[in-house]
This record gives sequence, structure tokens and C-alpha cells, in this order.
Amino acid sequence: MKRTSNILIVAALAGGALLSACGNKGAHNRKPGKIYMPDMYESRAYEFYSGRLAGLKPVEGTVKRGAMLPYHLKAEDTAQANLVKNPLVLDEAGIKEGKRLYDIYCGVCHGQKLDGNGPLYKGGDGPYPAAPASFIAGKVLGFSEGRIFHVITYGYNVMGSYASQLDMEQRWKVVAYIKNIQGGGNAPAAPAADSTAAAGAPAVAQAQ
Ligand code: HEC
Repeated sequence: MKRTSNILIVAALAGGALLSACGNKGAHNRKPGKIYMPDMYESRAYEFYSGRLAGLKPVEGTVKRGAMLPYHLKAEDTAQANLVKNPLVLDEAGIKEGKRLYDIYCGVCHGQKLDGNGPLYKGGDGPYPAAPASFIAGKVLGFSEGRIFHVITYGYNVMGSYASQLDMEQRWKVVAYIKNIQGGGNAPAAPAADSTAAAGAPAVAQAQ
């Protein structure tokens, strides 16, 4: 007896709830509902690297599409650096760009003629006290392209690093220009048609 009365009460309550839900109020309500705490229903549109997400940078080691792989050698890895090859196949325009960059970033010290006697040094009369290396005489003539790239990347003694001014591609262009002048200044032939070593994804530190 007790059980049936309980069931009756529950049924009555459920019926009441159902009726009120189907009432004309619901069926003809054209007013949009109110959203309580909208942030929980709809996520906010956001822009990368701004607002609340400022400081959220790409995962470390991420490589931009078409960019070169990072240079893994450390400053002290000079032996391995000697073996690194220029991953770019540069044509005349690439060498020309290397000259342009060289004249801006290196020429002031090392000289536009690559003789180690730029306007900042001027044979000892300039404001810069240390003698920059010549590229057309002495030991740098024997430097591999990887070694020159390494010096630009990390600096050498009093010469500072140029890694923040020149990206890797630009550094290799400067290297190619220096090597080109050392080799007599003959512009290179156009790269072979089947060359795959262009800016794609060259492994710079393959020599490791
Ligand atoms: C502010 C002056 C200055 C600028 C600019 C400069 N260098 Fe140097 N560089 C020097 C000096 C000084 C030395 C000699 C350091 C020594 O022998 O102790 C040197 C040495 C070098 C060497 C020889 C390193 C060795 O192992 O003996 C290379 C290669 C070189 N520089 C390349 C470059 C290139 C490429 C650039 C341009 C991206 C450049 N430098 C820009 C001052 C400069």
C-alpha cells in the first residue's frame, strides 16, 4: 500500500512537470533564451601571440616552413664546423647578395677588398684597434666554408657574433661570396637542374 502511494506521488509530480514544459508559454516563446555564464557555452575567438595568450610561443625547435634546419654546433665545436658544407646552391644573384651583405656587415672592418683593412681599421689609424683578418692572404685562405660560417655565427676573439644580424641563409651567402673572391672571383655556373639542396630543408649540421 505504501509503495503504490509513493509511485502515485512520483507519477503526479512527473506529469505536472511534463505539462508545464509543454505549456503554451514554451511553444510560443519567441524570445531568445538567456545564457547564464556565456564563457562556458562559447569559446572566445583569440589571436595568436596577443591578449591572454601573449607569450605563448611556438614549441621550441619548431622550424618555419621552407626555413633551414637549425645549426646545432656549439661555439667550441670548431673541429666539426670545419666539415660543414654550404647547403645552398647559389647562382650569380646569390653571390651578389652575399657581396651586398658583406659590404654592410663585414666590410667596415675586413675591407671591401677583403684585405682586412676596412675603414674602421685603416692600417691601424682607424678607431678600431684590433687588426681584422685578411681573407685574401694568410690563414683564412685555408679556412673551409663551414669554418667561416662558424666564425660569423659565434664570433672569434674580439670579433663578435653576427648571428642576430644575419640569418643562416644570409650567412651562407656571405661565405659563398668570400669563397668566390678567394677562388678568383669567377661567378659560379647556374646550379644543376637536378639540384635538391636549395632552401628546402638542408641538413646544415650533417657533418656531426
Ligand atoms: C667590428 C669589426 C669586425 C667586423 C664587422 C667583422 N669582423 Fe671578422 N674579425 C674581426 C677581427 C678584429 C678579427 C681578428 C680576430 C683575431 O684574430 O683575434 C676577425 C676575424 C675574422 C675571421 C678569422 C677568424 C679566425 O679563426 O682566425 C673571419 C673568418 C671573419 N672575421 C669573418 C667575418 C665576417 C664574414 C664578417 C661579416 C659577417 C666579419 N668578420 C665582421 C673584426 C670584425
